[in-house]
Amino acid sequence: MTTTFVMVKPDGVRRGLVGEVIRRLEQKGLSLKAMKLMQLTKELAGAHYAEHNTKPFYGDLITFITSGPVVPMVFEGREAVTVARTVMGATDPVKAAPGTIRGDLGLEITENIVHGSDSPESATREMSLYFLPHEIL
Ligand code: RTP
Ligand code: MG
Repeated sequence: MTTTFVMVKPDGVRRGLVGEVIRRLEQKGLSLKAMKLMQLTKELAGAHYAEHNTKPFYGDLITFITSGPVVPMVFEGREAVTVARTVMGATDPVKAAPGTIRGDLGLEITENIVHGSDSPESATREMSLYFLPHEIL
């Protein structure tokens, strides 16, 4: 069994898509191991997106991800990192396949509903930013 970190972004929470994101990941076969609703500080947002801090879109990314509550979660299952990203679809909802979360529910690259770790190493790092070990059941 492997785990991954998934987070419903502020647009997903504002649009009432938290349940839809969880439903799709659970129906695929992943199990929920941790979840909370929280407002990100600029500091935590900066730590989360540290890999992008030289990109032209970094400022807008931090403003957006701190624009409202988010729902960080941990999911477990076979190949959880890959499976979660497959269920989410491509980064740009215009390119995301039908049947994926971003393909079915999004249109803007800046407001693409959900985040998912891109490797097992990222998953471990991101889980530790949001959850204490005893909060992952
Ligand atoms: P995420 O980290 O949010 O799960 O998304 P991702 O792996 O599919 O994409 P990543 O390359 O890590 O980019 C992080 C987020 O930055 C925004 N972005 N904007 N304007 C742009 O060209 C651009 N490129 C990326 C997206 O919201 C993306 O999810
Ligand atoms: Mg990413």
